[in-house]
Amino acid sequence: DEADSVRASLLRWYDVNQRELPWRRKHGCGCAGDAKERRAYEVWVSEVMLQQTRVATVVAYYNRWMQRWPTVHCLANASQEEVNEMWSGLGYYRRARFLLEGAKSIAKEGRFPRNATELRGIPGIGNYTAGAIASIAFNEAVPVVDGNVVRVISRLKAISSNPKDSSTVKHIWDLAGQLVDKSRPGDLNQALMELGATICMPTNPNCTNCPVSDQCRALSLSRLETSTIKVTD
Ligand code: ADE
Repeated sequence: DEADSVRASLLRWYDVNQRELPWRRKHGCGCAGDAKERRAYEVWVSEVMLQQTRVATVVAYYNRWMQRWPTVHCLANASQEEVNEMWSGLGYYRRARFLLEGAKSIAKEGRFPRNATELRGIPGIGNYTAGAIASIAFNEAVPVVDGNVVRVISRLKAISSNPKDSSTVKHIWDLAGQLVDKSRPGDLNQALMELGATICMPTNPNCTNCPVSDQCRALSLSRLETSTIKVTD
């Protein structure tokens, strides 16, 4: 059906066009600890940093952070002063407080929660971060909706209601849940975010290079409008 073809196009595009980012790096074998838990920590730190900061800025902060605290257990033993110092320049220090508080709670439990519902029980982890960690690190078929995804899905489905209204956002979460890929949920979710960041931009979207332009209702409607104008001219 239509969702299948959108999924297939997005994944094919993402396989070729995803940006190389440190938290997407594959680790060779031989690293200590559980690979999924390690990925969960990487996704968590990167997604929290990305919430209010651009990718280009986040990369350097992320690399320094991981060098200093390579595991959630290392982070749990840090002080708030050390964490704030590392965060210096990123702003919104509440995020750094939540990371430390969350790490302490995870270390106390002894392991990373492995699904979105349990992840939401960690201080500072909301729907967005829980969905990102669960889908990317633990392969759970749950959606992730950020500003990019709201825009991409609004355009795909030609949804014209205010993207800032909570009812619109809730509707988009439902649609993203229907779109989520059962076998590669993390990649599909990242493909949607990546598409919004690099192709389906707020202004001047690059529809010519969009892998789902054929399935985009907003694009077909605007083509329709353009052709109507031409006909009546
Ligand atoms: N923006 C925030 N998180 C992202 C991710 N995981 N992939 C692409 N863009 C993002």
